[in-house]
Amino acid sequence: MDLRGRNFLKLIDYTPEEIGYLIDLAAEHKEKKKKGIFLTEKHKGKNIALIFEKTSTRTRCSFEVAAHDLGIQVTYLDSSGSQIGKKESIADTARVLGRIYDGIEYRGFGQRIVEELAKYAGVPVWNGLTNEFHPTQVLADLLTVKEKFGCLKGIKLVYMGDARYNMGNSLMVGCAKMGLDFTACAPEKYFPDPELIKLCKEYAKVSGAVLTFSEDPKEAVKNADVIYTDVWVSMGESSEVWEERIKDLEKYQVNKNLMNMTGKDSTIFMHCLPAFHDMNTYIGKEMGEKFERTEMEVTDEVFESPASVVFDEAENRMHTIKAVIDATI
Ligand code: CP
Ligand code: NVA
Repeated sequence: MDLRGRNFLKLIDYTPEEIGYLIDLAAEHKEKKKKGIFLTEKHKGKNIALIFEKTSTRTRCSFEVAAHDLGIQVTYLDSSGSQIGKKESIADTARVLGRIYDGIEYRGFGQRIVEELAKYAGVPVWNGLTNEFHPTQVLADLLTVKEKFGCLKGIKLVYMGDARYNMGNSLMVGCAKMGLDFTACAPEKYFPDPELIKLCKEYAKVSGAVLTFSEDPKEAVKNADVIYTDVWVSMGESSEVWEERIKDLEKYQVNKNLMNMTGKDSTIFMHCLPAFHDMNTYIGKEMGEKFERTEMEVTDEVFESPASVVFDEAENRMHTIKAVIDATI
């Protein structure tokens, strides 16, 4: 499989075979790292730029450590410390960075920005999260599911909450391509875009995946192998929307009762993180006090339970991002 020179902007652009290859390559990198084997000569002398217009812990650290393990140097740029957006357009930035770097990661707002960057850069561009898609997260999630269940096809993944945003969209694409049954469970206005659903139904015909959209948590989680959720208010959204989101989505919180409704002891809980499962964050505390609740999309009990694999997912961000860089640069 030769993916050199390819961008990694959304899973839509990759075939199931290519996604499967990246997951397997990540597993290989993970095993090597555990044995203390590093490929620091493989890409020696290469440089990559990491652009973060939104904050990050996992994605930034994963790109930095993965690059380091591959012998690649990194430069971190945020919107306050560079000209991006304010004095220089994305197209101009792309052409400048493309002359200096061998690859560019971008985290920011609209998907069209990362697509524009890729159009002009002339080097691989990797999407580190946009409003619409978070493809490197889904690679890590699929690796985690494969590690836990030994396979991807036929696994039932239920996504609870705002399924119109980056995580809901990307998980639906990833599941549809790789043959996992995907259920989005939320009020109808939080279902993914109908055009994206239509596209994913085409992928599902080939992979055998079943896509379901339900407003009823009890019905949706029956037989679920994975219950997945994400924050109710994403980065870049106004804090004004918290009240409406809590009202709309509280019925879709992942709690012990919901986990028990799957009818399976083996169901795992997944979350891309960061999560509002307690009051130990600034925003969690502020919103918790304002709306008189101590937990949001997931209870602390589920987050801390043996069913929760969230830190395996977080670790797998690094191994999967390493596979993406290694394969495409
Ligand atoms: N899951 C994820 O992308 O985390 P960060 O925002 O910390 O990068
Ligand atoms: N939906 C979340 C994902 C964070 C990794 C956000 O965009 O903030």
